Amino acid sequence: MLLWILVFGAIARIDCYFSEEKHPEESKMQPPTVVIAVIARNSAHSLPYYLGALERLDYPKDRISIWAATDHNIDNTTAVLREWLTIMQKFYHYVEWRPMEKPTSYPGEMGPKHWTNGRYEYVMKLKQAALNFAKRRWADYILYADTDNILTNPDTLSLLVAENKSVIAPMLDSQTYYSNYWCGITPQGYYRRTAEYFPTKHRHRRGCYPVPMVHSTMLLDLRKEGTKKLAFHPPHPDYSWPFDDIIVFAFSCRVSEVQMYLCNKVRYGYINVPAKPHQTIEDDRINFVHLQLESMIDGPPMYPSRYIHLPPKQTDLMGFDEVYLINLRRRPDRRERMLWSLYELEIDVKVVDAVDGGALNSSDIKLLGVDLLPGYYDPFSGRTLTKGEVGCFLSHYYIWKEIVDMQLDKALIFEDDVRFQGNFKRRLLRLMEEVEKVDLDWDIIYLGRKQVKPGDEEPVENVRNLVVADYSYWTLSYAISQQGAQKLLNAEPLSKMLPVDEFLPIMYDKHPNEKYKAHFPNRNLQAYSTRPLLVQPCHYAGDPEWVSDTETSTLWDDDTVRTDWRGSYKTLKGAPPPTGWQNAYHDEL
Ligand SMILES: *[C@@H]1O[C@H](CO)[C@@H](O)[C@H](O)[C@H]1NC(C)=O
Ligand SMILES: *[C@@H]1O[C@H](CO)[C@@H](O)[C@H](O)[C@H]1NC(C)=O
Ligand SMILES: *[C@@H]1O[C@H](CO)[C@@H](O)[C@H](O)[C@H]1NC(C)=O
Repeated sequence: MLLWILVFGAIARIDCYFSEEKHPEESKMQPPTVVIAVIARNSAHSLPYYLGALERLDYPKDRISIWAATDHNIDNTTAVLREWLTIMQKFYHYVEWRPMEKPTSYPGEMGPKHWTNGRYEYVMKLKQAALNFAKRRWADYILYADTDNILTNPDTLSLLVAENKSVIAPMLDSQTYYSNYWCGITPQGYYRRTAEYFPTKHRHRRGCYPVPMVHSTMLLDLRKEGTKKLAFHPPHPDYSWPFDDIIVFAFSCRVSEVQMYLCNKVRYGYINVPAKPHQTIEDDRINFVHLQLESMIDGPPMYPSRYIHLPPKQTDLMGFDEVYLINLRRRPDRRERMLWSLYELEIDVKVVDAVDGGALNSSDIKLLGVDLLPGYYDPFSGRTLTKGEVGCFLSHYYIWKEIVDMQLDKALIFEDDVRFQGNFKRRLLRLMEEVEKVDLDWDIIYLGRKQVKPGDEEPVENVRNLVVADYSYWTLSYAISQQGAQKLLNAEPLSKMLPVDEFLPIMYDKHPNEKYKAHFPNRNLQAYSTRPLLVQPCHYAGDPEWVSDTETSTLWDDDTVRTDWRGSYKTLKGAPPPTGWQNAYHDEL
């Protein structure tokens, strides 16, 4: 008996021992299931980026179903979407594919960017069909995301889920003040301006805020009781607001007592500014390219899907004999971004290695025949020339020399920290066409600069958006003719050097300093500027990302002292403002 107890006890102990050691922990919860609704029309240009962002979302694909519909297309949307879904469907839980080849337009439509009531109604029905699908499958969430909304932040879906709201949207950034929310709504259901809009848009306040309208990209939590009643179609029986899918849905939330929320805690992605009703798919594409370029500067950038074939772009020189990009070898990041941007703009370019002022010592500089303009001091800091400024001058100078040596009629020069204005290529082409038409005798045309003296400059007759340049700083980008390059070389500026952006205004006789001017007798350069400007600097002094290669380098004739020009007044944002820049986007061709 005793033995039996001992044996039993031993077994029990072993049993207990076993359970403590080997019994597995409870496993982790799987994330909630999500249906992503993809409703695509004429978006072949943005789809590679849209789908690229979806496939990079850091969320298990086996917890996601895709509901994709496309219809009324005149471009390659169906083929692009089909190509992607065919490859990706094995990764997702389920894919529902609803293509419709015909018709290619709605009755009464002015063009593919025009919204008729028929189109609004059809889109409402599509969104409702996606919602019904998600409910039938007992999905926990449905994510709506328009195909020109690029969710470049891979955490967007998880971050939105974590907020635990019935209806929530990530604030999307655009090329302008446009975004995917309203802070106010009129009693008739129209947009109302509010004091909160801009502080929210600029993220001066950050958080998740109740708002009367979110659209384009939003996540609905279908487990919440309130969302059971939400509908896109048919509109609520009491509905009297404008017939528009986003307003119908906002109304549905209101009558169902479901609050919409907008989150702007971090950057989630981008939304393209919609084309106007009379515009074309090509206009839309050009807007989108601009958004792409902006994403490369402000980040996170957009990348296309690896699973979609991108047709190669046709690049050209826009009628110039050469397009130069000045880049310091030790700034490959800038070179990459500029090359990528210019490719997207379909512009050919020749990269020239900038003279690295920082690598020059004072004896190298003397050997090159460089000497300082007597008495030159930076007007704001009182310092003399820096090595970076010497390098910058030489870089421009060697290009002028090449233009003359190779007898190029006209060339375009870019530095490598340029932010392009929307529609850059078409605007420049139109400008140069008009310049030719009126036979304007020009030497340089600034595309980007800082106007020093505020005030109006004389417009050029019969050329839209061109003025006679007054005193300006910066050499971000300019067109130059062979005659212009020759005039600059003839002035023999190396032996009396000052910063290149001070030299040019001397040469067109708008520099205020008489003593400097006295060293250059032939100040007959014919200088013009675009207005609005076609490029801006990427960053300004004082911005967190700002690094200038000219203004933080050491003094040109001293190899021992390090100087820091950060904050030189010349590069500070502020007065005088770049005229017309803010409204430039809304100017139309
Ligand atoms: C349309 O898209 C498909 C799939 O990406 C591609 O194979 C085809 O070349 C495209 N056609 C045109 C005209 O761009
Ligand atoms: C989410 O919100 C619901 C109310 O809608 C609440 O009951 C629930 O506890 C919340 N969950 C979390 C994880 O906070
Ligand atoms: C300046 O640099 C060159 C190489 O670029 C070198 O040969 C020369 O000795 C240097 N001079 C001085 C004074 O450091």
